[in-house]
Amino acid sequence: MTHPILLTPGPLTTSTETKTAMLSDWGSWDGAFNAITASVCRDLIAILHAEADHVCIPLQGSGTFAVEAALGTLVARNGKVLVPDNGAYARRIFRILKYLGRQSVVLPHDEREVADVERIDAALAADPDITHVAQVHCETGTGILNPLPAIAAAVANRGRRLIIDAMSSFGAIDIDARSLAFDGLITASGKCLEGVPGMGMVIARRATLESSADNSASLVMDLVDQWQYMQKSGQWRFTPPTHVVAALRAALDQFLVEGGQPARLARYTENCHVLIEGMRALGFKTFLPSALQAPIIVTFYSPPDPSYEFAQFYRLVKERGFILYPGKLTTVDTFRVGCIGAIGPDILRQAVDAIADALRQMGVRRYG
Ligand SMILES: Cc1ncc(COP(=O)(O)O)c(C=O)c1O
Repeated sequence: MTHPILLTPGPLTTSTETKTAMLSDWGSWDGAFNAITASVCRDLIAILHAEADHVCIPLQGSGTFAVEAALGTLVARNGKVLVPDNGAYARRIFRILKYLGRQSVVLPHDEREVADVERIDAALAADPDITHVAQVHCETGTGILNPLPAIAAAVANRGRRLIIDAMSSFGAIDIDARSLAFDGLITASGKCLEGVPGMGMVIARRATLESSADNSASLVMDLVDQWQYMQKSGQWRFTPPTHVVAALRAALDQFLVEGGQPARLARYTENCHVLIEGMRALGFKTFLPSALQAPIIVTFYSPPDPSYEFAQFYRLVKERGFILYPGKLTTVDTFRVGCIGAIGPDILRQAVDAIADALRQMGVRRYG
């Protein structure tokens, strides 16, 4: 059976090499496996040019586990976090902070508006108790790209700390720790690095981590404990996701051969361009204007046609070989198509044809 191609922002379509890397079993104590973990961490730090001040702590689980671990470890118990909110993943951060019992302030935005640097600056000026800003880089709920360098500069100017949810941008969009100050950055194995899902990674400022030993109220989520144990033993604290680590090693090898972050960005940009052009030619409208769109995932308005219904659309497109993603907006009816994964522009062209064919079968005539 041929599996459909995932046009979703993780899990995503992986290469045969990456899948093949999971055919071996690894012992968690074994030196060869621990060397793989160490090399993955080294490569992640290098992608951010963060060798001078940061360390990498991998953590079992999905991306949200790592976001929660980063917030619970790097923010002191009496800390207060500003959350610029222009989408679903910012709101998830807010929920996590509530569970963690950390004070938080939400800065609401329209979902079609990038996080506003002036408003962030004003909020920090107005409230000296705010210790941190937690910023989503690419808000995958819509596909909008927030202006991270300007936000980081504003946060640093006010002497506050930055925690970045770079889940769906890391590896594709440039983030350079030499010019962009952050205490923590979170990503995951199954996103733009094109590994399989199962682990998150937090790149944390070493000095912050060293002074964060008493923050976490959870053992499994304590990044200081995970880091110290790894430093001491070379091993993960608890059963590691061995196959996920091996797949990520293979995915990183391919990432480096492809030409690293600039090459990945170029491929995703081309994917995104082909997708949007093809869909607009059919009559679809994008939720975001092109200037705000990250080349990661695109939100399209659902066709305003009585014959359209997402579940059937999804099924018919799947029968043609592609998995789409539902919308994440509460106010308007949308669906999303990812541009990331081990896929190129030809796949996106075929996907647009499959979408057109599925809608024809449904009898949809108005697309936008
Ligand atoms: C920006 C962002 N943050 C957090 C997450 C949460 O990751 P997970 O669903 O792997 O827990 C995602 C997932 O796509 C994401 O895109």
